[in-house]
Amino acid sequence: MTLKDYAALIDARLAELLPEAEKKIPDTDEIPWLLENAMRYSVMAGGKRLRPAMLLACADMLGVDRAEALLDACALEMIHTYSLIHDDLPGMDNDTLRRGRPTNHVVFGEGQAILAGDGLLSYAMELMLQNAMAYPEHSARHILAMNDIMAGAGVGGMVGGQCMDLYCEREHISDERLLSYIHVNKTSRMLTSPLRAAAALAGFAPDSPETTALTVYGVKFGLLFQAVDDILDVVGDEKTLGKSIGKDAEEGKLTYVTLYGLEGARKRADALAAEAKDSLAIFGDRAAFFVKLLDDMTHRVA
Ligand code: IPE
Ligand code: IPE
Ligand code: MG
Ligand code: MG
Ligand code: MG
Repeated sequence: MTLKDYAALIDARLAELLPEAEKKIPDTDEIPWLLENAMRYSVMAGGKRLRPAMLLACADMLGVDRAEALLDACALEMIHTYSLIHDDLPGMDNDTLRRGRPTNHVVFGEGQAILAGDGLLSYAMELMLQNAMAYPEHSARHILAMNDIMAGAGVGGMVGGQCMDLYCEREHISDERLLSYIHVNKTSRMLTSPLRAAAALAGFAPDSPETTALTVYGVKFGLLFQAVDDILDVVGDEKTLGKSIGKDAEEGKLTYVTLYGLEGARKRADALAAEAKDSLAIFGDRAAFFVKLLDDMTHRVA
């Protein structure tokens, strides 16, 4: 299975979870058409589906039934999409292009875009809980997986990273330790949680050698991923990327490029890829998907 194969599986399930809705007064307990369509607009706009694909690929690697992991994978993509909708808001990065489309707030207005993000986050949690309840014999595993996903997305994870990202931008702070906090939290944690969640579903303890190795991989992979994102914000092509470029410099963001320069950022990305690859040794050939992913993401243009 390639990244594209996994993405196709996830796209199909997401389309079922967020069907196109017709305008009508909602019944009690029903999602309003406007909210459903605003959520669907950003989720179904494309995207690499990296995080859910990593969850499913890791589940496959560790022998988890893929059907048991699919809703968690979709939930993670919803949480990621919520983070993008909010990241693009005028009060945050103020962007108008995402996944090749006008951003959510440009189409639906700021208030509805905030709600679409809130909606995706809470819907994701509902779906994960429903999935956990469908497997009562594995409820401890599912609770552990949900804990990893929510902690990675939460206040000591992605939200915390986004907080410090904005803080450094607004206060004009350039500091190596803060940059590390920002990138690990805003990006790496949401790329580590799929792996830790899959390990939890496979029955591995949070401090097992397998989960530890996957965590090291996820953190390094995430840093590499954000280094490349920062590089692409300078040298990328807007059309290929599907999002605006040059905004980091314009807004005075603290990034790998502002701190280490383009060449420095590239060198760091290469070093991180090598370190991440080493961390997979414990899985041998079974980790082929994750070895290839390092190469793909180091050289990505979108
Ligand atoms: C963008 O994530 C946000 C960052 C963490 C840099 P992706 O590059 O994975 O965005 P999509 O999901 O493919 O749109
Ligand atoms: C955002 O980082 C990471 C998130 C948690 C959404 P960026 O602000 O660099 O992501 P892009 O470049 O807008 O996709
Ligand atoms: Mg941002
Ligand atoms: Mg942004
Ligand atoms: Mg960026």
